Amino acid sequence: MEYPVFIILLLLHFITCGNSKEDSLSMKGMTTTDNPTICPDESDIKPCTCIVDITNSLILDCSKVADEDELTQVFKSYFPQPNFKTFLMRENKKVKHLTSNIFGDVSFKVISMQKGGLKHVSYHTFNNSFETLEYLDLSSNHLADIPWFGLHNYTSLNGLHLASNNITSVPSFYCKTLSEIYLGNNSLTGLQTDVFQHLKHLEHFEMDLAGLTDIVQGTFADMSHLFSIHLFYNDLTHVPEGTFATSSKKLQYIYLSYNKITTVEPDAFPALPLLEVWLRDNQLVDVEEVVWRPLLEAGGFLRVKGNPLLCGCDVAWLVRNQTLMSMVDDAACENSDSSLYSLDPEDYKDC
Ligand SMILES: *[C@@H]1O[C@H](CO)[C@@H](O)[C@H](O)[C@H]1NC(C)=O
Ligand SMILES: *[C@@H]1O[C@H](CO)[C@@H](O)[C@H](O)[C@H]1NC(C)=O
Ligand SMILES: *[C@@H]1O[C@H](CO)[C@@H](O)[C@H](O)[C@H]1NC(C)=O
Ligand SMILES: *[C@@H]1O[C@H](CO)[C@@H](O)[C@H](O)[C@H]1NC(C)=O
Ligand SMILES: *[C@@H]1O[C@H](CO)[C@@H](O)[C@H](O)[C@H]1NC(C)=O
Repeated sequence: MEYPVFIILLLLHFITCGNSKEDSLSMKGMTTTDNPTICPDESDIKPCTCIVDITNSLILDCSKVADEDELTQVFKSYFPQPNFKTFLMRENKKVKHLTSNIFGDVSFKVISMQKGGLKHVSYHTFNNSFETLEYLDLSSNHLADIPWFGLHNYTSLNGLHLASNNITSVPSFYCKTLSEIYLGNNSLTGLQTDVFQHLKHLEHFEMDLAGLTDIVQGTFADMSHLFSIHLFYNDLTHVPEGTFATSSKKLQYIYLSYNKITTVEPDAFPALPLLEVWLRDNQLVDVEEVVWRPLLEAGGFLRVKGNPLLCGCDVAWLVRNQTLMSMVDDAACENSDSSLYSLDPEDYKDC
């Protein structure tokens, strides 16, 4: 399974700054008023590189720094223009602790430090970016914790990517602007998911492969912009009434495939048109009318392939109505050669 990886397409269009001697000479000849977006001196920030993209935004790539001290030194250099768009540090296993104010006076909109050795980030690490940071990607590191209570100080933060870390608990926190949170592949067994209920602008909620055993009722209730919920590969067994109730009318995907779900109660899912409920490879034996008719009648879809369906009288309501049947995928019936679509309405007339 691939986690969403932040790709900066503009990387393709990099113009390197101070690439040759001539370039850096002509740079030095420029005054800041001629070109306000200029890089610091190449030799001052080595082994980091500063790049100006086609939109004249500044990108700093420090993937090659040897350790925290070297990173600290880089930010003690003179930065003629300290408002950067992007900070990159990819696959750097040496930098583990990001201390307070390590980035000096430089601010960023995007910070992407994937696949590294990060173990600790402090409340003040990115404090110069409280107003600018839109996207923070610290996925695939060794973080056990982040300064959750400091997140409300970021007034523009949209995306928080923390998948594949070592996070075992999350407190109840606020971040008014957050629209995407990715926490998959952490050990969150026993997490009370209502810690996320204050994230009212959330659109994408991802917690695949996280050992979740329960979804607290009300977790999604006030997320009025919610579009997708990703919960593949967890340990959910029951989906009680109201679990996915939400004020969002835009909810389009609830991914629950590869759990251990045996029972779904009526009204567990909202009856929204366009909502696709993915329940493939679970332990469901029936497709009960009282549970699923409201969703299908509203125009939603149900994906149940890979469940040990018995195809008894519980599916008679679907077999008799091809319109509703077409909103369900063609799942095999356990212990027989038939599948939902091949069932004969005649066989269900005594149900
Ligand atoms: C960031 O934190 C450092 C160290 O705690 C502090 O000196 C600095 O003033 C802070 N900057 C902002 C913008 O809050
Ligand atoms: C994850 O955290 C546990 C303690 O909670 C620790 O023993 C383990 O070494 C950590 N793993 C990594 C990869 O950092
Ligand atoms: C962070 O938020 C708290 C509470 O809103 C506020 O008191 C504090 O001044 C903020 N800190 C910074 C550095 O903006
Ligand atoms: C989950 O994280 C571990 C390291 O914590 C990594 O080795 C593994 O590839 C990740 N799995 C997925 C599916 O991303
Ligand atoms: C199938 O169900 C839909 C939705 O309830 C209904 O409008 C339609 O009349 C039904 N069709 C048949 C053939 O019963």
